[in-house]
Parts: sequence; structure tokens; C-alpha cells
Amino acid sequence: MDDKKIIFSGIQPTGCITLGNYLGALKNWVSLQHDYHCCFSVVDMHSITVRQDPVALRKRCMEFLAQYLACGIDGEENLVFFQSHVPAHAELAWVLNCNVYMGELSRMTQFKDKSAKHENNINAGLFTYPVLMAADILLYKTDLVPVGSDQKQHLELARDVAIRFNNLYGETFTVPEPFIPKEGARVMSLQDPTSKMSKSDPNVNGFISILDKPEDIARKFKRAVTDSESEVAYREGKDGVNNLLSIYASVTGKTVDEAVAEFAGCGYGVFKERVGEAVAEELRPIRERYEDLMKNKDYLETVYRTGAEKARGITARTMSKVYRKVGFVNR
Ligand code: TYM
Repeated sequence: MDDKKIIFSGIQPTGCITLGNYLGALKNWVSLQHDYHCCFSVVDMHSITVRQDPVALRKRCMEFLAQYLACGIDGEENLVFFQSHVPAHAELAWVLNCNVYMGELSRMTQFKDKSAKHENNINAGLFTYPVLMAADILLYKTDLVPVGSDQKQHLELARDVAIRFNNLYGETFTVPEPFIPKEGARVMSLQDPTSKMSKSDPNVNGFISILDKPEDIARKFKRAVTDSESEVAYREGKDGVNNLLSIYASVTGKTVDEAVAEFAGCGYGVFKERVGEAVAEELRPIRERYEDLMKNKDYLETVYRTGAEKARGITARTMSKVYRKVGFVNR
């Protein structure tokens, strides 16, 4: 075994993969993938905490997997798989559920937001969702979890439960660290720059799908909400402009200061057009690769079957250690 560290991350197959998911997570998975042993999962079990149409979900899961690969994730070098194909995720979640307190879970802001949005379906899975996420991470002795800033609180919980379990039962889990990018960690809606860009936003103009066509991207940026001033500057109170500047910086690899300097003297019209062009240029090859990948279902199947098989091997070892530690009789 070499001394490469381990990464785990995942995206829920709901809605579509947005520019937020891409800049907050996927783009960093791609740049980190060669320096770490990586597991990238389509976390289908998390997605059923909200009602899903089964036919649409199955289709979307495949589309998400193809989008991971289209973004540049190497499906042979990394473990790319569906969470439900690796039963240890559910098994460890149960053990961890018995080591997490109701109080801790009630403090999770995502639970509060989602239960407000889905008043008629506040199910137990929605409540214990962060425990399944902790299981995802801890099963693989993960060192680093590349995510957007909205997942920080969930990651804190995963760290707390790992430390608690280790204290109770002896050294078992690695305590993971988050990897949150400097720019792009919280991409905001193009229509309401005070709220996060969300893949389930009913207003399609609020988000960019990574599969959007260049003309749709241009149109959405053209309509992006800014403010009544005319200066492209990054400062408090200019949420819309700040968001566009961060997006531009994240896509081009420039700093926000460099972006501000570049747009000095530009009107908002030109500014928005240029940000839209930069995003369209970044996403164009992804859409093209995606279309090819979706024609090659056999290849996709090889990737997710091989990924899950390896993941089952790794996680079976973790589970037998965990079961021994908590006092279950050997199988
Ligand atoms: P999910 O599916 O909501 O989002 C996937 C990833 O995208 C990031 N993200 C954003 N980043 C920047 N700006 C945004 N507007 C934005 N919206 C979303 C998220 O932070 C995340 O990194 N619970 C997780 C999925 C999960 C997971 C895991 C992640 C399950 N198990 C284990 C890491 C490790 C979630 O719902 O992400």
C-alpha cells in the first residue's frame, strides 16, 4: 500500500448537477483525484429522504454517474459507485445511530430547512440523514472530504461521532477533515443572490445545470439579479455582483481581486456576458463528453460494478472491525 491519503465525497441524485455542485465539489474532486485514493459515490440512499419517482430516480442515478465521469473523474483509477450497491453504508449507519444524540441531529440546519420545505414528509430518514453521511465517510478511513460550505456542519458531526466511537471502543475510525474551496464554496442563486444555488429550485433561471447549452447559460447570466449601481466591485451589499465575481474567479482560476481589476469600467451588461461566456466555455466539453458517455451504457456499468465490488471489499473489513468492537459474535 502506498501512503496516499483517502478521499470520499458524494452528490445526491436529486434535480440536476448545478454549477454550485460543480464549483463547490466536483471540480475539486477532479483536481485532487490523482493525489489521493478516491471514492466518489452517487448517494442514492440519501435521496429517498425526500419522495422520489422510482422511474425518474433510476434514470437520474445513471445520468449523475455519467456526469461525474464527464467532468473528468477517472472511473478506473477511482472507486465510482452507487451507495445502495454497498450494504455496509446502511449497516454502519445503524451502529452510528446508536452513538449520536437526538439533540445533535435537531441542531442540523439542513434538517430544519428541509423539514420546513417538506412539512408533510418529515420522516426519520431525513432526521438521521447526517448519520448515513458519517457512515459513508468513516467506512473508508477517509482523511479528506471535498464539499461546499453547506456540508460543514454535517462533517463536524461525522468528526464528533468518530471521536466518540474511538473513545468508547478504542481506535477504529480516522477523523476526517473537510476540504472547502476558497472560491465557489457557496454559489448563490442567480435570481436571489441571498440564497444558495439549489438543484431543486423551481425557478430554472436561478441555477445553471452543468449540462445547460451555451445559449441558455448566456440567457441566465444576462438575467442574473445584480443591484441598482453600476460598478463591478466586491463589497457588502452587492450580493449579486459578488456572486458573479466569485463564479468567474472560480471558473478561471483567478482571484476575486484580479477579476475586479479585469472588469474595471465595464457596465453590468458586458460583465454578465463575460461571466456567462467563461462558464459556458468551462461546461462545453463536459456536455459533449456526457453525450458520448450516455451512448456507452456498457462502460458505465463496468465502472459502477467494479467500483462497488472494490468498495464492498474495503467496507466489509471496516464492518467486521466495528462489529467486533461493539461486541457482536463473529460470523
Ligand atoms: P448535495 O447533493 O446537496 O450537494 C453535493 C455537493 O455540492 C455542494 N454544493 C454546493 N457548493 C457550492 N455552492 C452551492 N450552491 C452548492 N450546493 C451544493 C455540497 O456542499 C456538496 O459538496 N449530504 C451531501 C451528500 C453526501 C456527502 C456524503 C458528501 C452524502 N454523503 C459524504 C460528502 C461526503 C449533500 O446533500 O450534498
